[in-house]
Amino acid sequence: MQDYLNTSARALKQGAIRAMFDRMAGRENLISLAVGEPDGNTHPDIVEAGCNALRQGYTRYTPNAGYLNLREAIASVTLPELGYQPESEIIVTLGAMEALSLLFNTIVEAGDEVIIPEPAWVNYASMVAYRGGIPAMVGCRMEHGFRVQMEDLEAAISPRSKALLLTNPSNPTGAFLSREDLGQIAAFAIRHDLLVISDEIYGKLLYDGNVACSIAELPGMRERTVVVNGFSKAYNMTGWRIGYAMGPKEIIRRMVLLQENVCSCPPAAIQMAALYALSRPDIPQEAAAVFQQKRDLVYQGLLSIDGIECVKPSGAFYIFPNVSAIGMDVTRFCYDLLDQEAVACVPGDAFGASGRGHIRISYANSIKNLSVALERIERFVRRNRAAQGGAK
Ligand SMILES: Cc1ncc(COP(=O)(O)O)c(C=O)c1O
Repeated sequence: MQDYLNTSARALKQGAIRAMFDRMAGRENLISLAVGEPDGNTHPDIVEAGCNALRQGYTRYTPNAGYLNLREAIASVTLPELGYQPESEIIVTLGAMEALSLLFNTIVEAGDEVIIPEPAWVNYASMVAYRGGIPAMVGCRMEHGFRVQMEDLEAAISPRSKALLLTNPSNPTGAFLSREDLGQIAAFAIRHDLLVISDEIYGKLLYDGNVACSIAELPGMRERTVVVNGFSKAYNMTGWRIGYAMGPKEIIRRMVLLQENVCSCPPAAIQMAALYALSRPDIPQEAAAVFQQKRDLVYQGLLSIDGIECVKPSGAFYIFPNVSAIGMDVTRFCYDLLDQEAVACVPGDAFGASGRGHIRISYANSIKNLSVALERIERFVRRNRAAQGGAK
């Protein structure tokens, strides 16, 4: 029998986060700090809106770009000052993930380079590579608070550079690019004629009074930016699979045509739940306040452990401590932490070369579990530092 797979499918690999999930399966007493989703359930009012929509007959196909009233609500809530046209500049998708996938499939030709600051969410590079594109990874270092540096961006430019991807705030580091940072990056994008993909999925989860700014708001950027966003993180709706993209008409039009061939449209009732969610800004505001408390607890807890260094995250619900002083490879660190103390984290190098020596901790868990997990990590580090001869 011939091999029916194509080269791109054959090259696909399971990400390190999924591999960690497989290792976690069936463990007792486990505290998972590995997963990138809020704890608890979706707000009952959003659940009710989804159920009501089903009862009211929202059970049919919708326009390929999603219901117009949902796109109108998105335009009035997300970057309203930019006046995105609901009819032509917004597409509703199956999570931010499908928006990104449609976008890369729309813009990337084989050999095109997409500049991606790393450590980064693992799926970007995989999506670019699937199209035959080249992810041009740009390392961000802890001493810069994991904010991308202009000279590193400049060094990544080649004649095939087509786009730049920004995640603000970042998964896995929680780093936040301010309006000033974005101003420099915008000038760079204009200078090199790059499309900017701005993943703002964590944009409502910002702490310490940081105010969200989209690069699309800066002069000359609306026409060269596609903003990607969704409901998974700020509205605790990961399993509903609903997100959106806003950008230049011609790109969005092609993404809609592609969506027709992929899934036709996101499910009707879930779009109605998302429409309701947009009428409740209190839900993400409350989530951000709670995440800030958890961030403080975990940051202080980690700082007090000998051998762990970390930067205080400004947003999202991840922290990215450096554990290299313990003297273990980070995959070994994560596997042993799971085996010895039943705490699951993700090795930092899963997110790119700059993640070497780091682990990613998601603090989207209960205060009680986070406190217990910190005690376990402290005990694990003390024991293993001693074993490596590095104990103070
Ligand atoms: C940076 C980033 N972008 C996009 C996504 C995908 O989100 P969604 O659930 O909306 O597909 C994730 C999920 O972890 C993420 O961390």
